[in-house]
Amino acid sequence: MRRRLFVTTALPYANGPFHIGHIMEYIQADIWVRFQRMQGHEVHFIGADDAHGAPIMLAAEKAGKSPEQFIAEIAKGRKQYLDGFHIAFDNWHSTHSKENTELSQDIYRKLDKAGLVYKEPIAQLFDPVKGMFLADRYIKGECPNCGAKDQYGDACENCGTVYSPTKLKNPYSTLSGAKPVLKSSEHYFFKLSDTKCKEFLREWTNESGRLQPQVANKAKEWLEGKGDKTLADWDISRDPPYFGIRIPGIKEEKYLYVWLDAPIGYFASLKNYCDRRRIAFDAFVKPGGGTEMIHFIGKDIIYFHTLFWPAMLQYSGYKTPDHVYVHGFITVSGDKMSKSRGTGIDPLRYLELGMNPEWLRYYIAAKLNANVEDIDFDPEDFLARVNSDLVGKYVNIASRAAGFISRHFNGELHQSPDVQRLAQAFGQTRDNGPLIRDAYEAREFGKAIRLAMQVADTINRYFDAAKPWELAKKDSRENREELHKACSACVRAFQYLTMWLKPVLPELAGKAETFLGCGSLSWTDALPDLQRIETYQHLMHRVDEKQLDALFEPPEKSAMTTPSPQPSPAAAGEGVISIDDFNKLDLRIAKIVKAEHVDGADKLLKLTLDTGNGTRTVFAGIKSAYDPAKLEGRLTVMVANLASRKMKFGVSEGMVLAASGDGPGLFLLSPDSGAQPGMKVK
Ligand code: MSP
Ligand code: ZN
Repeated sequence: MRRRLFVTTALPYANGPFHIGHIMEYIQADIWVRFQRMQGHEVHFIGADDAHGAPIMLAAEKAGKSPEQFIAEIAKGRKQYLDGFHIAFDNWHSTHSKENTELSQDIYRKLDKAGLVYKEPIAQLFDPVKGMFLADRYIKGECPNCGAKDQYGDACENCGTVYSPTKLKNPYSTLSGAKPVLKSSEHYFFKLSDTKCKEFLREWTNESGRLQPQVANKAKEWLEGKGDKTLADWDISRDPPYFGIRIPGIKEEKYLYVWLDAPIGYFASLKNYCDRRRIAFDAFVKPGGGTEMIHFIGKDIIYFHTLFWPAMLQYSGYKTPDHVYVHGFITVSGDKMSKSRGTGIDPLRYLELGMNPEWLRYYIAAKLNANVEDIDFDPEDFLARVNSDLVGKYVNIASRAAGFISRHFNGELHQSPDVQRLAQAFGQTRDNGPLIRDAYEAREFGKAIRLAMQVADTINRYFDAAKPWELAKKDSRENREELHKACSACVRAFQYLTMWLKPVLPELAGKAETFLGCGSLSWTDALPDLQRIETYQHLMHRVDEKQLDALFEPPEKSAMTTPSPQPSPAAAGEGVISIDDFNKLDLRIAKIVKAEHVDGADKLLKLTLDTGNGTRTVFAGIKSAYDPAKLEGRLTVMVANLASRKMKFGVSEGMVLAASGDGPGLFLLSPDSGAQPGMKVK
């Protein structure tokens, strides 16, 4: 039966460029989508920016832009990442759109009509200078328990106490520094605690096969009021100023909370796509339309997707999701990346360095399974898997067999049924096919790749045992026949491998299809025969270790001197920062006690710094300008609270400041005489 699938990935906040976590999610979903298409199913793969909310409004203000302008610039940056990693969304739209406004207001009205919305005044901290209510993350003060200063409004980082922001002593707004006042305002609530809602969600989350077991359990805990969250009514309104969608049907200016309109953005993007393609939108989103609705998301947003979202849909007359597929987080060399400025790997830099996007697709696929497990990007593991498995096993088969066929048989493949039989017999070519298909379907991509590589191993072993290079030397009829059959069988089997790996490696598969002269492969248990091959052109290079080093080194030129040049409005030069932002920097005088060349590094010097409080190692990109011997003993300025960064040569525990312009030259900062290591620079 031909399935009709509507597949989405979580909508990224439009407050910064994509990081490796986003790309990982898109790669996972894209592989699944491509696999379904190869099965002959109809798939509509939809994404969009999540553009609303206070953080984006404030980020825009900081950058000196209107929110509209700010999110438009972010949106413009999306394509290069998506194209770059072969992520083939059918549509990319925005929650700040006409479609989303209409759909969100409509859904709100229907929930209201269903008796699931009520209003109630609540008192919240308000910034009288900024004129806005403050979410917990914008309030700081002294911990009511231990007295620690500068603690956030929800919990103390010093003693771990959790409290409400009104309990903070000497609270201040992080936006203006003003003392917040308690102020009351009417809020609108979605009545999730309603018995019919709870009953529905119990059934929905329990339905077998809908959610991964871990996810269903988590949802159950929340529903039954255990664990870290309980199912309370949901505050869905925000007061101005807010960048969002107006609540319809009321006189006051109130906005829908961003998490209400965000998932509706899935529909808005689909509607935008359907309208342009003249496809009926309703069939996708109304019950009984015969479409499966599937969301790929990360583990941090399960709550919204398994409780709020299905309840919203159920009581506004839409169909509810068939599956919510949750993945874990990606870490880089074991480090969690920060949500805002990811340490880890910058996906754009990866591409700019000329690294093959399919290496990353392959690597991520090889590590993924259907569970909610974190995966780690480990540079050495990456190098090994790509070079030894992908290139060394799979690509190698074609490059080894093709030469003989082109040289000795004019590219013609042996046509006897033996060849087909041989290719099938290669360790489980026949048996592994269905297993690989099942693994893809179940999002067990690591397993699919293991099974394919098993076959690649067998083929390579067979090739080695057949010793074609010896057969080619002895020019008897028998030997020629054997050589022809052996190499043809390897090429046949290579075609199977190509079909199996195509969801992961769409571009490589395209090149292989040209080489095989077989047209675009779709999924089948028995591939049609091949006649002849094209001259073999190299299909894929190995990872060069230098590229990996560069990926982990700070960007060129700006080596250790300026923040990453990522083109993000948030980081754009005209942004004005508050004193609070500046105070986050811990700048200190440091003494360079040792400066050394680093074996194999063209730009870096290894510095040992006396920080007045022990020593630190910092790798600085100043080799072009300084002789290490002359640096020893000299004072400079360092950023002491920069997260450590794992580099090829070791861990860098901070950075030193230097000036540079467009021309050559690099100038390390130094303090006036009298300064001592450890002194704060402010
Ligand atoms: N805007 C919301 C989602 C709204 S969906 C209606 C949001 N945005 S996000 O940009 O913070 O995250 C988008 C997706 O990226 C989420 O699925 C999130 O789990 C995922 N990831 C964020 N960091 C990640 C990793 N380090 N690893 C893998 N996925 C990660 O949440
Ligand atoms: Zn405390």
